[in-house]
Amino acid sequence: TTERSSVTGTAPVLVASNRGPVSFSTSDDGTLTLRRGGGGLVSGLSAIDDPHAVWVCAALGDADRRAAREAPDGRLDLAGHEVGSQAVRMLDIDPQTFARAYNGVANSTLWFVHHLLYATPTAPSFDAGFRTEWAAYQAYNTAFAEALAAEAAPNAAVLVQDYHLSLVPALLRETRPDLRIGHFSHTPWAPPEYYRLLPDDVARAVLTGILGADRAGFLTERWARAFAACCEDLLGATVDHKELTVTLPQPSAGGTPIGRTTRLGVHALGADADFLRERAHRPDVDERLAALRTAVGDRRTIVRVDRTELSKNIVRGLQAYRHLLRTRPEWHDRVVHIAFAYPSRTDLAEYRDYTAAVRRLADEIDEEFATPTWQPLILHVNDDFPRSLAAYRLADVALVNPIRDGMNLVAKEVPVVSDRGCALVLSREAGAHSELGDDALTVNPYDVIATAEALHTGLSMSPEERAERTKRLAAAATALPPQQWFLDQLNEL
Ligand code: F6P
Repeated sequence: TTERSSVTGTAPVLVASNRGPVSFSTSDDGTLTLRRGGGGLVSGLSAIDDPHAVWVCAALGDADRRAAREAPDGRLDLAGHEVGSQAVRMLDIDPQTFARAYNGVANSTLWFVHHLLYATPTAPSFDAGFRTEWAAYQAYNTAFAEALAAEAAPNAAVLVQDYHLSLVPALLRETRPDLRIGHFSHTPWAPPEYYRLLPDDVARAVLTGILGADRAGFLTERWARAFAACCEDLLGATVDHKELTVTLPQPSAGGTPIGRTTRLGVHALGADADFLRERAHRPDVDERLAALRTAVGDRRTIVRVDRTELSKNIVRGLQAYRHLLRTRPEWHDRVVHIAFAYPSRTDLAEYRDYTAAVRRLADEIDEEFATPTWQPLILHVNDDFPRSLAAYRLADVALVNPIRDGMNLVAKEVPVVSDRGCALVLSREAGAHSELGDDALTVNPYDVIATAEALHTGLSMSPEERAERTKRLAAAATALPPQQWFLDQLNEL
């Protein structure tokens, strides 16, 4: 039996995500410094101008934990920090539980499954260590569900984000059946035959966890249908393929009632045109643009901007550039590849190894082609948002070649801020491809030679064609701005 909570909070709208809208660092004098995070969710939530809305997130490091502990009633004081009117409650989850849930399950397991990242002869291997991590993931999801249950007003709308929190909807429904619960997946969803890599109980818990929601949102129809296929295949759920609904046949172990139906929704998050255009013309961006122009001279540019993330396929992108230079010497001294590969998830050995592989290949390209007057590749590995915007403005070709990607906002942002028009080389496995495919140069991300050819086509495209395509790409990329993306989901709930 489940204990129902009789005490409710006051928030009519709640968001829950692992990474919140702010993070903290400790200054030299010991005080806490706050930084506002970027991303669609932060912009999206700004559409809700409700001082009673609450965003529940995890404290990610020591400074966050201290801020969470020092916050009165667990609520952070964000006055004067331009993070919207909502309150933020940061959960101080113990560091070991957090690390096991975030690194072990969310990023090393669920992320790997949805992005098809395993080299299956040796990985994954679900051993006793994984079981400890899975228990931590359950505890971490429970902490979120409890905080949300405590904050939510009767009948409130709760928008739960992503693969970190897939158990939350069902857990929350157990204690607060009055709530309207949504879950949104920002990743792709794996097809059933790959999703079956997970231990059966884990696979089922994740699916039934999300099915605790009234609505489960995805970035593209492809990912929504893959989720439905997994529910059909692993849970024996009934799927209405026309209406995109999933109905569980019987109560799950988690207590989801008989015949509950979850509607699947598709919300293709777009670029925030107003914000980007204004931000991309501030002096700090102009300054970086001038520096890049000096480095590049009158040569053409191929630009990529990513986290150093296995699914972004940076190594094959560099291989494609090397193949272009090997097979088309006419581009020697006439092109520069600007590659920004920012640090990400460095707690994981796979990411550290991948970062080393990117650097090694960059050095090899340099050794093979650089001359005293031409640097063929500029690789930056530290995060600098204004410099990314400067590169977007300068790009002749943008390379976005992920193995798989929920959406990929770089593909949508470049056409919006490009100064002169930019050819887009785009993986057919990026969610953004379903909207941008007509005007992009589509590639199979594993095909290095075809990617090199697409780079050549992009570099050779006439300025008129590039400008025309960029205009259409920008229109498609901004069709659903973050604010509307967020409001749509809320309204549907
Ligand atoms: O949905 C994927 C996501 O959570 C994005 O929101 C974000 O781009 C990325 O992963 C960041 O991952 P992390 O929070 O692990 O740095």
